[in-house]
Amino acid sequence: MAASGAPLFQRMVVIGLGLIGGSLARAAKARGLVASVVGCDERPGPLEEGRRLGLIDESETEAARAVQGADLVVLAVPVRANRAVLTQIRDALPEGAVLTDVGSVKGGFVADVRGVFGELPARVVPGHPIAGSEKSGVGAADPDLFREHKVILTPEPETDAGALEKVCRLWSACGAEVLTMSVARHDEVLAATSHLPHLIAFSLVDTLAGEDDSQDIFRYAAGGFRDFTRIAASDPVMWRDIFLANREAVLEALRHFRGDLDQLGAAIEAGDGQRLQQVFTRAKAAREHFSRILSGEAYLNTMNDQTVTYTARPGGPVQGDIRVPGDKSMSHRAIMLGALAEGITDVSGFLEGEDSLATLQAFRDMGVTIEGPDAGFVRIHGVGLNGLQPPHGSLYVGNSGTAMRLFAGLLAGQRFDTELTGDASLTRRPMARVADPLRLMGAHIDTAEGGRPPLRIAGGQPLKGIDYELPVASAQVKSCLLLAGLYAEGETVVTEPAPTRDHTERMLKGFGYPVVQDGPTARVTGGGRLGACSIDVPADISSATFFIVAAAITPDSDLWLRHVGVNPTRIGVINILRAMGAAIELHNEREAGGEPVADLRVRHAPLKGIRIPEDQVPLAIDEFPAIFVAAANAEGSTELTGAAELRVKESDRIQVMADGLDALGVVSEVREDGILIQGGAYGGGRINSHGDHRIAMAFAVAALRTSGPVIIDDCANVATSFPGFVALANQVGLTVESSEETQ
Ligand code: S3P
Repeated sequence: MAASGAPLFQRMVVIGLGLIGGSLARAAKARGLVASVVGCDERPGPLEEGRRLGLIDESETEAARAVQGADLVVLAVPVRANRAVLTQIRDALPEGAVLTDVGSVKGGFVADVRGVFGELPARVVPGHPIAGSEKSGVGAADPDLFREHKVILTPEPETDAGALEKVCRLWSACGAEVLTMSVARHDEVLAATSHLPHLIAFSLVDTLAGEDDSQDIFRYAAGGFRDFTRIAASDPVMWRDIFLANREAVLEALRHFRGDLDQLGAAIEAGDGQRLQQVFTRAKAAREHFSRILSGEAYLNTMNDQTVTYTARPGGPVQGDIRVPGDKSMSHRAIMLGALAEGITDVSGFLEGEDSLATLQAFRDMGVTIEGPDAGFVRIHGVGLNGLQPPHGSLYVGNSGTAMRLFAGLLAGQRFDTELTGDASLTRRPMARVADPLRLMGAHIDTAEGGRPPLRIAGGQPLKGIDYELPVASAQVKSCLLLAGLYAEGETVVTEPAPTRDHTERMLKGFGYPVVQDGPTARVTGGGRLGACSIDVPADISSATFFIVAAAITPDSDLWLRHVGVNPTRIGVINILRAMGAAIELHNEREAGGEPVADLRVRHAPLKGIRIPEDQVPLAIDEFPAIFVAAANAEGSTELTGAAELRVKESDRIQVMADGLDALGVVSEVREDGILIQGGAYGGGRINSHGDHRIAMAFAVAALRTSGPVIIDDCANVATSFPGFVALANQVGLTVESSEETQ
């Protein structure tokens, strides 16, 4: 009913009483949207049925008579019959009556109206409900057929705004979501998404039915055939007309499909499994994305529905030649910048860990097409800095502080509102460090109490550049502000108190966006563009660290780690371990995609305790859990200071490591900003990793040198940064068993 309680229309005439016309009549009557409904059909059968079902009040076989006194006429005949019906009603249509239709092809309808009326009268509103059923006929009329379905209206410049609004309200009140688009766009989209699948379904069933043994084929055909061909039971006359009416757009979609199908055929012929997998992976991801859009959900898959426990035993030597997965920091950034670039960005070496996959999904939720990942290969169809679409729900970034902080910057510059959520660990982490400076730039951000997630970011806020001195050495905060700076008016200047990883600066330059770096200061000016490029993500030095320490502490070890990222802002771990006496060699140093990489060779050597230089702390920030294990295996004590940041990582890494070391009998002294660890022999024990991936992996390494097994609880999050860790560890000489229990 209209808001006032009065019906929207007094007399609705539905010409063509089939499934759609009948359902609309039923829906409108049931909801009090029309005072009376006239059914018009040249066949008496549907009219009788319509009356019997109570969905029409009057019936008429002549269209010209039916439309008399109408204030709404709905044309619901097969599209090829439109012209004849329009000719019949042209002179009888009352002055103020709105005329709409429900046909699948809008170009044909508009052309028919123009042909018959000599123009497009302002009260004509072309429409198309994207709803239906393989059932046909008024007997199947369903008042809820349009609920939660889309209805596309394709007004032309001549269309009267009032008429459009009334038709829009009619469909909305029937439960539909109403969209408007141009006639040409509608016909293109429908050719691809509806007409082509019907053509293929009709054709496939016909082909199989024509086989000699078709009876057998149908007898044994299982769910796949049934699901795929359901629509081949649709009304043949209606579909004949649709294909003839939307000829050009359907032929174009068919040409495209035929080309792709031929390529799949060629891949099968050539035994090209990789190509097949690439296409299937891409299609699967697209289908899943589509399902989520349909159900109006964003990515809400909680990652931790498994309890994973490691049992690690003494082992070694650590030997082999391996490549650990791709760098996490760079994987996040590659997806982000690739999505915001113009054109196609190819990424190889992408980390298929839960954190970076959540970032990838968040961009899919904002309308970016991303192919893969397939063996580390991802293809991103960038939408440009202003091309993201509003997501349906909140954006879930799992366990990743990097994702949440970097997203905060780039989302502050969007025209739509967003909410960023994460898992329990992330929900405890401080976000005021990004929210505060972003507010200075003009962003509107709400956090939960104490500056914690979730973050609610208001869209459409103009940002202006600021000159900001970071209170903590944090690459995440720096990167957040630089990303916001891309959307800000003027220059954004960020100065850091100590060098931190500079992947954002390097990658922005790789995408052709100017970044001025001057000592501790980085500057960007808003309003530029990112050009697509190719990115080769090196192996993650943070993941390599577990194996570097494993080889360093275990006699007779000799391990090669290939293609490791050795950016100077990331090699604190190499500097610190070398200072402790570790034998680490860098070979074949080269550049890959703007980042230095090398092959590392690590051999066992006796370690000694040191005072860790504070300037190395930000350069080894993620590596301390493993460095603490090296310290436990060194002669003498190792002292760390200036590392309070460790307390706000995925766990309080100072306390959680101290507790774990204590469980094994390693003596340590905890400080507010560091720890002192006494090296020496230790035994087995039970460790609570507190869901921190790096704590779990560090103790799996520590077990190499214990006298008994180390049981490590809560290890599921290793999958956030290092999928395949256990297999790789066992491959090179560690002894780790993983047991999983689904909660
Ligand atoms: C990261 C920066 C570091 C690091 C994190 C990844 C990044 O965090 O600990 O794992 O990708 O920028 P902070 O910037 O908070 O130190």
